[in-house]
Amino acid sequence: MKALIQPVRLDDEKSELIVLDQTLLPGKVEYLHLTTQESIWEAIYKLQVRGAPAIGIAAGYGVYLGAKASAATTYEEFVADFNQSKDYLASSRPTAVNLFWALDRMAKRLETEKDQSVPELKAALLQEANQILADDETVCQRIGEYGAELLADGMTILTHCNAGAIATSGFGTALAPVYVAQDKGLTISVYADETRPLLQGARLTAWELVESGIDTTLICDNMASIVMKEGKIDAIFVGCDRVALNGDTANKIGTSGVAILAKHYGIPFYVCAPMSTIDIECKTGDDIQIEERPGAEITDMWYETPMAPAGVKTYNPAFDVTDHRLITGIITEKGILKPNYEESISNIFALV
Ligand code: MRU
Repeated sequence: MKALIQPVRLDDEKSELIVLDQTLLPGKVEYLHLTTQESIWEAIYKLQVRGAPAIGIAAGYGVYLGAKASAATTYEEFVADFNQSKDYLASSRPTAVNLFWALDRMAKRLETEKDQSVPELKAALLQEANQILADDETVCQRIGEYGAELLADGMTILTHCNAGAIATSGFGTALAPVYVAQDKGLTISVYADETRPLLQGARLTAWELVESGIDTTLICDNMASIVMKEGKIDAIFVGCDRVALNGDTANKIGTSGVAILAKHYGIPFYVCAPMSTIDIECKTGDDIQIEERPGAEITDMWYETPMAPAGVKTYNPAFDVTDHRLITGIITEKGILKPNYEESISNIFALV
């Protein structure tokens, strides 16, 4: 399988978080060398690092770097410094649960190391952050293998936003089945929604798929219906930022519209979800906080002159929730969950 670009890694010697600046793609492949908590927060907020799993990985390393700089000499002082960094990074984006999941995982690790010296605590946090990254790679591979079982040679899928390699430390979630299928010698084609307003589909998904030699067709978001109607799409694969206990799923704005269209045209709609993206504390999608971003992303982003009249009102929710009744299956690293999701999710978390 083709080696893909790593969006986040740590240079521990230099205490730098090295992040592929995804806002510059596809024109420039440039890496940021982040050393301060503020620059890591900003990289997450500005979507220089983005995609739920990659945000989690960045947060894990971010909180480690914050704690590494601590001058504390006791466990209590160290935990206070750690918590300050944790709370700060947690305020960068609200919807992708992986951010909070990774920070909580780091906090839990700290708690289990209570009796250790401060240097040992720092080493344990580094190990945990590295493990978050390593686990994600395995998770992507498994999701890819389960998802690839749904694909046959010559099939065409549609995807929305970017849930590919650059959103994870592995081969992605929604795109992993395509890469695994390609590795098995199958030819799979992909239609990529451009994904307004920030164009993750055009700039990122199309870029990484073309780089990987996958047959890719880019469409504007409002063309999804016609390609489905024309029979060009066999299945939809999308990623997610948070899955509620009943299977309602938050993903990039526009995903729910794609799911509604898929239902209308009788096309299977799959959500690819690491277990770390399932939030059993959210009973339904109504409990998921939807990030609202500046209107300038709609009016001013891509041309030198504004794309809309000055002073026009905007509304820019970054995610929407797809009703669980529209989802054919949720592909996790532990297998493909089927409705009733409340039951299948409870079973997989052994809640019953
Ligand atoms: O705002 P973004 O670009 O971070 O949104 C990303 C998505 O919606 C992805 O589909 C999701 O995070 C899954 S990435 C494997």
